[in-house]
Amino acid sequence: MVNYKDLGLVNTREMFKRAVAGGYAIPAFNFNTMEQMQAIVQAAVETKSPVIMQVSKGARNYANATILRYMAEGAVAYAKELGCEHPEIVLHLDHGDTFELCKDCIDMGFSSVMIDGSHLPYEENIALAKKVVDYAHQFDVTVEAELGVLAGVEDEVSAAESHYTKPEEVIDFSTRTGCDSLAISIGTSHGAHKFTPAQCTLVNGVLVPPPLAFDILHEIEKKLPGFPIVLHGSSSVPMDEVNTINQYGGHLEAAIGIPEEQLREASKSAVCKINIDSDSRLAMTAAIRKHLAEHPGDFDPRQYLKPARENMKKMYIHKIVNVLGSDGKLAQC
Ligand code: G3H
Ligand code: 13P
Ligand code: ZN
Repeated sequence: MVNYKDLGLVNTREMFKRAVAGGYAIPAFNFNTMEQMQAIVQAAVETKSPVIMQVSKGARNYANATILRYMAEGAVAYAKELGCEHPEIVLHLDHGDTFELCKDCIDMGFSSVMIDGSHLPYEENIALAKKVVDYAHQFDVTVEAELGVLAGVEDEVSAAESHYTKPEEVIDFSTRTGCDSLAISIGTSHGAHKFTPAQCTLVNGVLVPPPLAFDILHEIEKKLPGFPIVLHGSSSVPMDEVNTINQYGGHLEAAIGIPEEQLREASKSAVCKINIDSDSRLAMTAAIRKHLAEHPGDFDPRQYLKPARENMKKMYIHKIVNVLGSDGKLAQC
């Protein structure tokens, strides 16, 4: 049993309290590779932002759970080496689907876990989330649960259709589970294809997706004043990255994300954690494709992973400073 506090990690409780009160959101970036980890830490240190580094089941399968845990421990040391004396780094399990997976992560040093029972019948979702909360709280690990279903098909996270969160259920759900934060469904979805062109409106040659259901978000905020709300599926799928990928041999058609203006608005509400994974994948792939097309003789991975890391870092900083507003929000520098 490893306690995250011994690794220099923090849970989400205090940072969420400050984020809700301050009208900004904490970035939750997924990581699978060393380059993503380095870029996330560099971005968080340079902007003086708290940060959530999250690991999915797919990431554990790809990189190995133990390696990722040591990378998070290394992230704390790396942040200090970069000059941040008091980094606030959360190691979070993204979309945990069983009690056993959550327990395994808690036992190996995660400071926060998500139990995603959103696809289960209501009472089963509550029972599973409560079981995880009861275990996690013994070690002061915070728990995110989910009500409502996001659409999206990825390695380990899949649902064909979305169902918005029902505001009338949130008080009962949060009270009975004891969860520390609640992921809701208001129109975001996973991956780089969040909407079909038919669902969008053409404005000045640009496909504009339907707005998020802010009415539902505000109803939820009224029912649970000050309670931390989480948005999954919040990549904005920048067109310049998609165009670069396509220009250099990729084939990404109709890739559409959540407009940043809407995420900016959400960040000012009780939404205090915004999940971004696909934008990092796009930034990495665009930079690698461009580099290899322009330097066909290169074969040392460092030659193309360096610009990939730089491009991800630029994206992370942009999200922190221009969208979520978490820059300069460390409790202590
Ligand atoms: O919400 C899902 C994250 O983007 C993780 O995706 O399961 O393919 O690692 P993954
Ligand atoms: P995106 O696919 O929009 O980046 O969402 C990531 C996510 O929700 C991780 O849990
Ligand atoms: Zn998600």
